[in-house]
Amino acid sequence: MSEKELLFYNEYEHFYEMTNRSDAFRMFCKEAFGEDLSQDGFSDINQVNRILDLIPSGKDIHILDIGCGNGKMLGYLQKRTEAFIHGFDYSINAINTAKKLFKTNADFRQGLIGEIDYPTESFDVITSMDSMYFAPDMEKFLLQAMTWLKKDGVMYVCYQEGDVMPKTKNINTTVLARALIKNGISYECKDITKESYELLKKKRETALLYKKDFEDEGNMEWFDLLMMQTDCVTASFDQFSKEMARYQYIIKAAGQVADRHL
Ligand SMILES: C[S@@+](CC[C@H](N)C(=O)[O-])C[C@H]1O[C@@H](n2cnc3c(N)ncnc32)[C@H](O)[C@@H]1O
Repeated sequence: MSEKELLFYNEYEHFYEMTNRSDAFRMFCKEAFGEDLSQDGFSDINQVNRILDLIPSGKDIHILDIGCGNGKMLGYLQKRTEAFIHGFDYSINAINTAKKLFKTNADFRQGLIGEIDYPTESFDVITSMDSMYFAPDMEKFLLQAMTWLKKDGVMYVCYQEGDVMPKTKNINTTVLARALIKNGISYECKDITKESYELLKKKRETALLYKKDFEDEGNMEWFDLLMMQTDCVTASFDQFSKEMARYQYIIKAAGQVADRHL
């Protein structure tokens, strides 16, 4: 893959290298998100726990996480469900860590959204936490990912607007929603913008709490980044929600896979 042209590639390599050596960041994640899953973004433990409700009970359950980072969210899900976990990410630092941390019933691959492929009907659940929008063609990638779902499988997508993706009118006008509607794929969705606003506030307070730890480690660049990322919550929620939104989509595979044209 031509790494230089990929959006944020070097930034993510640097980020996942830092997650391996920063105690301050680990403490920050645990406090701000409720669990240290090396989050880069908005996935607190409430959003992650909603995935548990979608995972069928029984043996031989396979979960794929798109843009899995260092695999800690998948590790968390495996601990609770014993599922076989699969993840891919373009960051080799992230994938190397995931391979070290999770060796049993796990498959981690370095790969690009839009390039990597899996056999059809492989997964019971596919998750995408703030990663769909890195697809060069979201509709094409959505349709491809749908083919990876088992017939009764389900896809769980948490989707932010106002940073990588521009803010659109509402939950049914995002690039993802438009691709779902265009292809007649049914979905359930929930506006979690308020939840995201509260989380960003918590992130900001927590970063300030651990400022000295970041400083002592020589990791102030991450503290500064956290301040920059959360500057938006110094505004009121009304103001914030004019520019940013967060949505959750649950997309069911049933009956959708057979006629897909990629
Ligand atoms: C916003 S972060 C979200 C990470 C993690 N899912 C979370 O919720 O904390 C986006 C993730 O997607 C990965 N990523 C970005 N662009 C990608 C691409 N084109 N192909 C594969 N992975 C990509 C990044 O390395 C990063 O792990």
